[in-house]
Amino acid sequence: MTNSVRTFAELWRELEPLGRDPGSGGYRRYSWTPADAQCRAWFTRHAEDLGLAVEPDNNGNLWAWWVPENQRRAGAIVTGSHLDSVPDGGAYDGPLGVASALAAVKELKDKGFYPERPVVLAVFTEEEGARFRVSCLGSRLMTGAIQPDAARALSGEDGVTLATAMSAAGFDPGGLGPREDLLEGIGAFIELHVEQGRALAPLGAALGVAESIWPHGRWRLDFTGRADHAGTARFADRNDPMLPYASTVLAARRLAAERGALATFGKVIAEPGGVNGVAAKVTAWLDARAADDEVLGKTLTMIRSAAEIAAGEHGVTLAVSRESYTPLVRFDENLRNRIAGVLAAAGMKAPVLPTGAGHDAAILAARVPTAMLFVRNPTGVSHSPAEHADLADCEAGVRALALVLENLAGSR
Ligand code: GLV
Ligand code: MN
Ligand code: MN
Repeated sequence: MTNSVRTFAELWRELEPLGRDPGSGGYRRYSWTPADAQCRAWFTRHAEDLGLAVEPDNNGNLWAWWVPENQRRAGAIVTGSHLDSVPDGGAYDGPLGVASALAAVKELKDKGFYPERPVVLAVFTEEEGARFRVSCLGSRLMTGAIQPDAARALSGEDGVTLATAMSAAGFDPGGLGPREDLLEGIGAFIELHVEQGRALAPLGAALGVAESIWPHGRWRLDFTGRADHAGTARFADRNDPMLPYASTVLAARRLAAERGALATFGKVIAEPGGVNGVAAKVTAWLDARAADDEVLGKTLTMIRSAAEIAAGEHGVTLAVSRESYTPLVRFDENLRNRIAGVLAAAGMKAPVLPTGAGHDAAILAARVPTAMLFVRNPTGVSHSPAEHADLADCEAGVRALALVLENLAGSR
């Protein structure tokens, strides 16, 4: 082994500046941009230093293989997460799982562990959907949950399609599509992730194990009215799309709260965007989540109908389209119990928790036994530069992940 592979803290220090905006302190690691390329290069360098064979797949995900001699690529124990971020995201959402995976393999190699089945580190592309609007795009493509042609045509705010962005980054978008062979070779997937929410701190636990992920999705609402003069058009004569949009925001909050669900408008574009004009069009994105698919479906129906009524009242047309959806995910119970047993035997407290955050693990769970480990987030804040995990908790996460990999890859 070379000396260049680092401790978790050293890996982290090296990754921290990549893609960080000096103004906000948040991360803008959008897929297929130079910041993304830097993060991929960081991963590749360290995985290769560990002696792993790094292979990008046809969907832009990265795989770093540690294959026992004379063994086939079967029953692999895969761990990893994503390196892309939301706009001005935190440092930990995604990268914590990738850096921890590298550090866990280093820990296993340092103690002389030799796996009986492959151990593989994975980095999934465009998990956040921050650039191309569909979350978990790399894992959806791999599992066939999105058609390659639809994916190639996705575009972000800059109008650049995924196909163009991939080509510009030196990847061939022509090969996008499902990878049954890769999926068949996976025995289990474990994603370590920073906790999003604040359940572990009150329990005095540095780590948690995931039970389930709430169903969640994204919808685009286009309110189309008519541009007019802010100083001369009488209220009665306006078709102002901002008004039904505003009442939909309030209705969504109320309707979701009444059902114990969540509904968020985090992004809105008013066009043409003049301060002294009535907008011609308002496009807004709704993120909605609930404990089960039925409640989420009902919440959506109610929000949609509130939006339609408000649009009608203002002579505005409304178009609603679903951009992505992930149904309720319950993680594999046997795998979760096995992991809980490993951690308990090591004296590590790790309560079992549900979460409302989406992950590639939710997509893979439909195809392979999947589990998640959470690392305590003392404030619970995420998707924000304020997201945090203490170094000691991150190191506990690495130790836990190493023990889990050792257990899963070391015995049949
Ligand atoms: C990803 O972090 C999501 O929950 O949207
Ligand atoms: Mn996220
Ligand atoms: Mn994440």
